[in-house]
Amino acid sequence: MQTHEIRRRFLDHFLRAGHTEVPSASLILADPNLLFVNAGMVQFKPYFLGQEAPPYPRATSVQKCVRTGDIDEVGVTTRHNTFFQMAGNFSFGDYFKRDAITLAWDLITKPQDAGGYGFDPERIWVTVYQDDLEAAEIWRRVVGLPEQRIQFRDGKDNYWDMGVPGPGGPCSEIYFDRGPEHGRDGGPVVDEDRYLEIWNLVFMQDVRGELSPKQGHQPVGSLPKKNVDTGMGVERIALLLQGVDNVYETDLLRPIIGRAEELTGRSYGIRHEDDVRFRVIADHARSAAMLISDGVNPGNDGRGYVLRRLLRRIVRSARLLGAEKPVMGELLRVVSELMAPSYPELATDFRRIETVAVGEETAFLKTLNTGSTLFDNTAATVKASGGTTISGSDAFTLHDTYGFPIDLTLEMAAEAGLSVDEDGFRSLMAEQRARAKEDAQARKHAHADLTIYKELVDRGATEFTGFDELTSEATVLALITGGVRVPTATAGQDVEVILDRSPLYAESGGQIADRGSITASSGLRLQVRDVQKIAKKIWVHKATVESGQITEGDAVLAQADPSWRRGATQGHSGTHMVHAALRQVLGPNAVQAGSLNRPGYLRFDFNWQGQLSDQQKVDIESVSNEAVGADFPVNTFVTDLAEARQMGALALFGENYGNEVRVVEIGGPFSMELCGGTHVQQSSQIGPITVLGESSVGSGVRRVEAFVGLDSYKYLAKERALLAGVSSMLKVPPQDVPSRVEQLVERLKTAEKELERTKMAAVLSAAGEFVDAAERIGRALLVAIAAPEGVSGSDLRALATDIRSRFGAEPAVVVLLGKVDGKVPFVVAVNQPAQELGIRARELVDSFGPSIAGRGGGKPEMAQGAGTNPSGIPAGLAAVRARVAELAG
Ligand code: ALA
Repeated sequence: MQTHEIRRRFLDHFLRAGHTEVPSASLILADPNLLFVNAGMVQFKPYFLGQEAPPYPRATSVQKCVRTGDIDEVGVTTRHNTFFQMAGNFSFGDYFKRDAITLAWDLITKPQDAGGYGFDPERIWVTVYQDDLEAAEIWRRVVGLPEQRIQFRDGKDNYWDMGVPGPGGPCSEIYFDRGPEHGRDGGPVVDEDRYLEIWNLVFMQDVRGELSPKQGHQPVGSLPKKNVDTGMGVERIALLLQGVDNVYETDLLRPIIGRAEELTGRSYGIRHEDDVRFRVIADHARSAAMLISDGVNPGNDGRGYVLRRLLRRIVRSARLLGAEKPVMGELLRVVSELMAPSYPELATDFRRIETVAVGEETAFLKTLNTGSTLFDNTAATVKASGGTTISGSDAFTLHDTYGFPIDLTLEMAAEAGLSVDEDGFRSLMAEQRARAKEDAQARKHAHADLTIYKELVDRGATEFTGFDELTSEATVLALITGGVRVPTATAGQDVEVILDRSPLYAESGGQIADRGSITASSGLRLQVRDVQKIAKKIWVHKATVESGQITEGDAVLAQADPSWRRGATQGHSGTHMVHAALRQVLGPNAVQAGSLNRPGYLRFDFNWQGQLSDQQKVDIESVSNEAVGADFPVNTFVTDLAEARQMGALALFGENYGNEVRVVEIGGPFSMELCGGTHVQQSSQIGPITVLGESSVGSGVRRVEAFVGLDSYKYLAKERALLAGVSSMLKVPPQDVPSRVEQLVERLKTAEKELERTKMAAVLSAAGEFVDAAERIGRALLVAIAAPEGVSGSDLRALATDIRSRFGAEPAVVVLLGKVDGKVPFVVAVNQPAQELGIRARELVDSFGPSIAGRGGGKPEMAQGAGTNPSGIPAGLAAVRARVAELAG
């Protein structure tokens, strides 16, 4: 049975049992504790915790999951995937253990022609939590499973939580016996390879604290209701139903191995070592495609690092299998073809996914090349010093700075007949990890502060009135200063104000918060500097009391500053214009990666490889401004997510949208985005948009910045004034400035050349005088003089050569010490007859060098260099004379 069919049957089974089908959430849900979504229940967490009312009592989904904790197990065992699909059914206070168990049992044992998976009931085993007699009883009495195939286990195996404080509960796991050829008798407690876990049923009823019941600790509380969370491993079911040996050989992965065989020229199934590499390639290529599709870009920390690591391991494995050319594009094409039936975005977004992955491959191939040079140097140094081991710190540097994986270092070391201090390397890695952990700890603490808002969040959301009015009557619900609730605040104090309703926009979706005020007839006045949302629900106004006293329960007027708001709407609508223009000019692969806007300014980040051309920048600006000039009406409306997508509204990757979404449409199909921001009513109100430039913000992400409205005008006015200044300085009309500047630059070049020639002529004409000043010392003639100030090193050289040539067969030595900008350039020239006397230019430098604090080098006939002590010139000249006297005397 094909994997797509396995998914479909699961969802249909639970649809028939009254569940609502919920699409998979993005892999990067905004949960600060999770790098990636790793279970089907993650998107439902608020329902289990009772923070939000579930819109349906029971749900079913097939969730995309990424777990990279066991990355080293990939390809080695039969069942580890970094990306996998978890099929699940969920009850939010509806049914509990009995239905969870019977629904699962029905699906796995129902014959295939009746829509089930058709597993032989005789080969099913289950485990239950040690104290959970109730679940064991259901398996025995209701399902009729024989006692000996029900095994009890402790919390380590049969308690499930998210690994962090939150919902949890005892669980019951379902296993399939693959037969004696796969391992020992005795059930899952004895052998988890032979007895393969296929489904985990969690009876979600507890609140887990800092310490997990997995380790025997007590839960800290009970959930408001008894729930069910289950997870069935789609890939494992596929492995069993397709009769293959391991998950990598199932229908959605094996073809990737096939492509890798073609690309590398090696075959799968011959050598274990190669097979592991093939499986790594298949597993990682799929995970990488899914991550990029959900908006992750390769980077140096967090999610980006995980993706980078996966991509690099693919490149590396392919190289070890003998691939000489890039492989990424080809591999991802296979992934896309295989996965698109369930994940159509892999096909529609293929170009972007490919560009990101291939970009990383190209960069890493370069790294491999530089890394190899560095490795060779390191190895050579080790050998030269008689050693046999590459130190842990060298291995760490190769890894940390040059992205050189340790397995590569180990392998290349072995080839070079060296070993690597792996322990040293690992302890440095451990230190680094500890540092990262401290960082994470620090981040968590910042989080703990939020508990003060919890009660307020529970009380309900702040009503946002700011789409319709700028001033609203409101009641003060709470005041917070320095992280503590206070009853009142007085003039001069900074305070956070929570109101029941507010017209001020709280920062979100890239639009920064409104500025404004809170006032009351009592003379109270607060200035609001910032507004932030907590838990997407309550507005926290960060304000300073300017006069009067504010008290909980006060009736007040909250006002958004109208001119700020006008600017903010221009900034935000302007961002939509630039986004639409970008897509028009660059195509649909210019996918938004982030944005920020405030009155007068906007910036927009998008996925794109390489710089934009000047023409593209000009086009983006002109398309934006034409759309402004077209005076499009701006329509906003609320609809459901499916409908909005149907209409082609653009959404931001990685953003977790609820089911109800707001759509902002400007100029019909020109611009349609999911957006909760404030906007102008007609596009002409945005005013002019001036694109300032375009830059890189990390690998594969570009940024366009622009001014809008009055700020745009002010910027242009400043540029015009600048041009006017230049034009009056050059005494030509503005349109003639470019040709005039070109002319001036040309003339300057000619003048500089002329000057150079004149200087040289003057210097050379002095050569004659210098020859006359030659002194006879023993058998040699010596010209040792301080050259005129300002003659450069290269001029000195020309001069010295000229002088030397005028002595014919006489042994002659020329030493010129110059003076330029406090430095002492020097040249020593010695002719052939003088060299025969044993005088060497290079050695003469040693005689005067110390006096002028100079160093230099050269050959017997010519040496040059520079010193830093001009006052030592006379002493230097004397020293040369003395030395020549010794040699030629
Ligand atoms: N949440 C449970 C798991 O991940 C079903 O195993």
